[in-house]
Amino acid sequence: MTTPLDGTVALITGASSGIGEATARALAAQGAKVAVAARRLERLERLAAEIGGQGHTALAIQADIADQARAIAAVDRTVDELGRLDIVVNNAGVMLLGPIEGAPTEEWDRMIDLNLKGLINTTHAALPHLLSAAEDSERGCADVVNISSVAGRVSRAGSGVYNLTKHGVGAFSESLRQELAARKVRSTLIEPGAVETELTDHLRDGVREQVRERLAGVHALDASDIADAIAYAVTRPWHVCLNEILIRPTEQRG
Ligand SMILES: NC(=O)c1ccc[n+]([C@@H]2O[C@H](COP(=O)([O-])OP(=O)(O)OC[C@H]3O[C@@H](n4cnc5c(N)ncnc54)[C@H](OP(=O)(O)O)[C@@H]3O)[C@@H](O)[C@H]2O)c1
Repeated sequence: MTTPLDGTVALITGASSGIGEATARALAAQGAKVAVAARRLERLERLAAEIGGQGHTALAIQADIADQARAIAAVDRTVDELGRLDIVVNNAGVMLLGPIEGAPTEEWDRMIDLNLKGLINTTHAALPHLLSAAEDSERGCADVVNISSVAGRVSRAGSGVYNLTKHGVGAFSESLRQELAARKVRSTLIEPGAVETELTDHLRDGVREQVRERLAGVHALDASDIADAIAYAVTRPWHVCLNEILIRPTEQRG
């Protein structure tokens, strides 16, 4: 049986948990060979073994994507070991919320280094390979999928630098889309609302409770709900580019 992504290779950053992990499963099920990158190697190896056990191919790559050299190395290793690169899902991210006044600025550095610099450096390193893939693949296109957030559209008190990074992801994705449109590298921006993952585990005490209170009673999305949308976007015919997908839980208002 042929599946839409047969013959393709996808690199997914932040694939040791949450949305990235679910996306690796979803793209592998569509036939892509997947390179899964993050810092927690054991989690990646477990995921790769699971995907391998289902008859697909997965490569675990330990990489701190906030480090430019490691981000470049993750792209290089994907191409060296899996042969090409058709799809990059820039998913690795941290959300360290709290008021601007008195904020520990190392949290800002972490968000800017990963959510922004990690994403742009991974994209930069991947582009030559994506351009070749768009030229020579049966699909006739390649994909950059950037994971932003509702926070990339709506700013709120207590979320300033996270908002800054996710608005930045949206701006970068649109420039990229325009630059590469004629060469058939698609740029898709995904903007999830609340998804049940480990993301809020990293919040400071006090801030964590405020975030959970704001979303109390809302049935959050599952990581696989976002992975489904990503798989849908990258399996469209080459002439169809889903530029931007905003997905909130039905009960989430803001
Ligand atoms: N959950 C939500 O409600 C929600 C909503 C909107 C947008 N998002 C976005 O979705 C993306 C994925 O988040 P998630 O919700 O799935 O949370 P998650 O479960 O915490 O996943 C984050 C992933 O990023 C990886 N990561 C963190 N720091 C890294 C680094 N320096 N280098 C490489 N990988 C790193 C983590 O793995 P390691 O720790 O092993 O490195 C993990 O695999 C993020 O960009 C987030 O902003 C999430």
